[in-house]
Amino acid sequence: MTTTDPTTFPVLDEKVVIVTGAAMGMGEATARLFAEAGARVVVADFNEEKGRAVAESIGEAARFVKVDISKADQVEAMVAQTVEAFGRLDGAVNNAALTPDDKLASEFDEDYWDRLMAVDLKGTALSMKYELRQLLAQGDGGSIVNISSVSGFRPQPENIAYVAAKHGVVGMTKVAAMENGPHGIRVNSVAPGAIDTPMLRGALEQFGFDPAEYAPQLSLLNRFGQPREIAQASLWLVSDLSSYVTGTTLHVDAGYTSR
Ligand SMILES: NC(=O)c1ccc[n+]([C@@H]2O[C@H](COP(=O)([O-])OP(=O)(O)OC[C@H]3O[C@@H](n4cnc5c(N)ncnc54)[C@H](O)[C@@H]3O)[C@@H](O)[C@H]2O)c1
Repeated sequence: MTTTDPTTFPVLDEKVVIVTGAAMGMGEATARLFAEAGARVVVADFNEEKGRAVAESIGEAARFVKVDISKADQVEAMVAQTVEAFGRLDGAVNNAALTPDDKLASEFDEDYWDRLMAVDLKGTALSMKYELRQLLAQGDGGSIVNISSVSGFRPQPENIAYVAAKHGVVGMTKVAAMENGPHGIRVNSVAPGAIDTPMLRGALEQFGFDPAEYAPQLSLLNRFGQPREIAQASLWLVSDLSSYVTGTTLHVDAGYTSR
């Protein structure tokens, strides 16, 4: 596998970027890659212990901000604290989400539906809302990435709330792109496929699937993706290298949705 080395090409030099859900998983990988690429990064998460540890290990270029993205006042404060720490905002990766539900459509749990929608759908919308307000106030553009999923395009069984929320993320990304394009603000989404995280390994174990045998069913490259490979896609979208790209979804799924 080849990966970029952003330290030789600091594509986010001087940019200030919020990454939500950055205490672990893909959000953490994104915060780390962005800092390597020259950005100043806000590690935003409601897991204070892990989020603070990530920010501290990145160093001066990072700040931890505690936020529950389902709460408007906390999201507003997250953006305000970003500006207080680094003077401005240039972009964001709205990545925080709850793990998928596990019930059939005929049996889904209403409380879990409400919680998942409050975070994965409304929380992503609230994050965009306050980030957009700051970018509009600055008046010099910006770039936002919302993390969807292959579940934003393909049905998965026993995932009704998650599939609905991730389809919703794709839709609201397009609305925000349409409204804010005239202001030079780009809004896109990234739809990860099967990424090698504890969540994925746990799901395979639960269903008794051997990862090596199962990978070809989920990936034309016969392997699971790495969190850093999702971070690389967000890096391109937040950077000026994608300056003519808005309102679209980048599928980072090794061809899963192309079949
Ligand atoms: N893991 C996969 O294979 C996969 C595939 C497709 C899409 N995704 C999507 O990618 C993103 C990252 O997935 P991951 O596997 O790295 O997740 P993860 O569970 O490892 O990390 C999610 C992070 O979000 C934080 N978080 C959850 N709710 C929050 C809230 N209300 N406020 C603030 N922070 C909150 C958690 O504390 C955690 O740090 C998610 O949007 C997920 O839906 C994941």
